[in-house]
Amino acid sequence: MEFFETVHGRRSIRRFRPGAVDAATVQTILKAGMAAPSAGNEQPWHFLVVRKQETLAALSKAHPYAEMVAQAALAIIVCADMNLVKHRDYWPHDCAAATQNILLAVHALGLGSVWVGVYPRESRMAEVRKVVALPEHIQPFCILPVGLPDEVKEPEERFSPARVHEELW
Ligand SMILES: Cc1cc2nc3c(=O)[nH]c(=O)nc-3n(C[C@H](O)[C@H](O)[C@H](O)COP(=O)(O)O)c2cc1C
Repeated sequence: MEFFETVHGRRSIRRFRPGAVDAATVQTILKAGMAAPSAGNEQPWHFLVVRKQETLAALSKAHPYAEMVAQAALAIIVCADMNLVKHRDYWPHDCAAATQNILLAVHALGLGSVWVGVYPRESRMAEVRKVVALPEHIQPFCILPVGLPDEVKEPEERFSPARVHEELW
C-alpha cells in the first residue's frame, strides 16, 4: 500500500470477523512499532501479545470503551518499562509513536485495529495490570485489538488551514 494511502486510509476498526493473525504477521507489526522514534532513543517499550479468548474477554471488561477487544484475533498491550526510561516523562510520547506505527502497519496489511487508551487513567491502568499480571515497573499505555476488519470506513478529510500558523501565532 502506498504511504499516503496508508496514512489517510487508517481508521479505527471496532468490528472484527473471525480469523487468525499468524505469528509472522504479528512480528511484522511489532517491527514497525519498534521502528518508532523515542526520546534519546530510549526505546522503553514492551509489547504484550494476548491471544487467549478468556484474557481478551477480561481485558474488554477492564476498560469502559473496550468491548471490541473480546472479538479481536489478538490484542497488543503497549507498555513501558520504567527501568529503561532515561528521559523522565517522555515514555508516553515514545509509546504513542510506537502505537501509531503499529496502527499504520496493521492497516497496510489489510487488518484492523483501534487505539484503546489506558494511560493516564489510573483505574484503567490498575485493571489492565491485574488482568495480565504486569510487574510494578511496567506501565500499560494502551490496548490495540487486532483482527480481520468487519467494517469499512472511508478516509475523513481533517486538514484544516485554520490550524496552520506561520512564523508567529
Ligand atoms: C489516546 C486515544 C485514546 C483512545 N481511546 C479509545 C477507546 O478507549 N476506545 C475506542 O473505541 N476508541 C478509542 N480511541 C480511538 C478514537 O476514538 C479515534 O481515533 C477517533 O475517533 C478518530 O477516528 P479514526 O481513528 O477512525 O480516525 C482512542 C484514540 C486515542 C488517540
